Amino acid sequence: MASRFQAPRGTFDVLPEQGRARARLERAAAEIFARAGYEPVATPAFEDTALFERGVGKSTDIVRKEMFTFEDKGERSLTLRPEGTAPICRAYLEHGMHKLAQPVKLSYLGPFFRHERPQAGRYRQFHQLGIECIGTDSPLADAEVIMLLSDLLGELGVPGVELRLGSLGSLESRRAYLEDLKAHLHAHEGELSRDVRERIDVNPLRAFDSDDEGTRAVMESAPTIVGQLDGEDAEHFAEVRALLDAAGIAYAVDPTLVRGLDYYTRTIFSFVCDALGAQSEIGGGGRYDGLIEQLGGPATPAVGFAAGIERILLALDEEAPAAGRDAFVAIADPGQRGRAMALAVELRHAGISVEVDLAGRGLKGQLKHANRIGAARVLILEADGSAQLRDMETGEQRAADPGNLVDEMTGGGS
Ligand code: HAM
Repeated sequence: MASRFQAPRGTFDVLPEQGRARARLERAAAEIFARAGYEPVATPAFEDTALFERGVGKSTDIVRKEMFTFEDKGERSLTLRPEGTAPICRAYLEHGMHKLAQPVKLSYLGPFFRHERPQAGRYRQFHQLGIECIGTDSPLADAEVIMLLSDLLGELGVPGVELRLGSLGSLESRRAYLEDLKAHLHAHEGELSRDVRERIDVNPLRAFDSDDEGTRAVMESAPTIVGQLDGEDAEHFAEVRALLDAAGIAYAVDPTLVRGLDYYTRTIFSFVCDALGAQSEIGGGGRYDGLIEQLGGPATPAVGFAAGIERILLALDEEAPAAGRDAFVAIADPGQRGRAMALAVELRHAGISVEVDLAGRGLKGQLKHANRIGAARVLILEADGSAQLRDMETGEQRAADPGNLVDEMTGGGS
């Protein structure tokens, strides 16, 4: 019977078929991040609205159009987090992590919220996993975070992944470049889409992202920042590329690459997957050397990425098969219930996956159910305290030593 309630538009339920694939992904990420020394952290699902206005940037689509913002009872403006980097930097400062040995390497995973037009791969509540490496401007850190995402996608077997790489230069060279770009856009105002034209002075970089034909033609002759990098910025970018080359990671330098958040400096990158259609970015990130200062902290360079969990799962397009159980404890007589539960707990402690009938089925029904859930063996607890062990594959059944049931099960009990 369907309820009259449904998950809100742009949100979804994770059902067990999908939950298994998701759990596998989360385990793989947790292991890869831990092996590289990234410690898991979590921040709240909502923050002061000003954190995102300041951190993500007032001119971005995210802040202008996509935030779920509300007032609490004390009339404070709060926002469901649209992204994780500004909150992690807030936590880094709030907890004095700038006083620890640098860099501080953090990983996270959780729900994020953006009021976007829903479509395949784009939701209003979605999940990201990510890492942030805070407190170093070394190109080694850029290379490390890129390699970790590359490793994760490789280990999961995501097909057809491409890495695009760009650089926005330091804050100063980015500023100078933006003036050039604005000049170019103003010179071609008549050929641009309205949206781009209206934002020339607020967010000119977004023009690179436009689908509008006229705008695209204008952008073909636009100056690119990668073409204008000089001094330390050029060296930094060259070093990141050399490190990726040395690690055998393929990438394409994309001078038109831009990202939807204002805090990026120097390296930016994006992993895309053709199988995803319009929402082809699986994950991306970059360096954000000015963000922590922007939030009121000391100048602190940092780099990181986030990947969309749903997008990775869509690209994998597989459902993990249900795992069978090692055992099922069948209750032949209601008097054995207490013993069955105690035994199940003991077996689980011994590392055996085991279920007990929770639905009051008769013995025949319990055996059928054990078969349905893929139990390898069934331990039948009889009314007189004796026990039978049944192999579900061969159908063979034999008496088991009632005083030694855990050993029977863990030792193979043949
Ligand atoms: P972002 O590119 O805005 O970056 O989001 C990262 C990833 O989240 C995207 O590549 C995409 O896979 C997924 N994603 C974004 N929006 C949606 C959506 N509406 N539905 C489903 N998936 C989505 C950031 O958020 C930065 N904080 C990344 C970063 C970390 N930069 C440095 N450190």
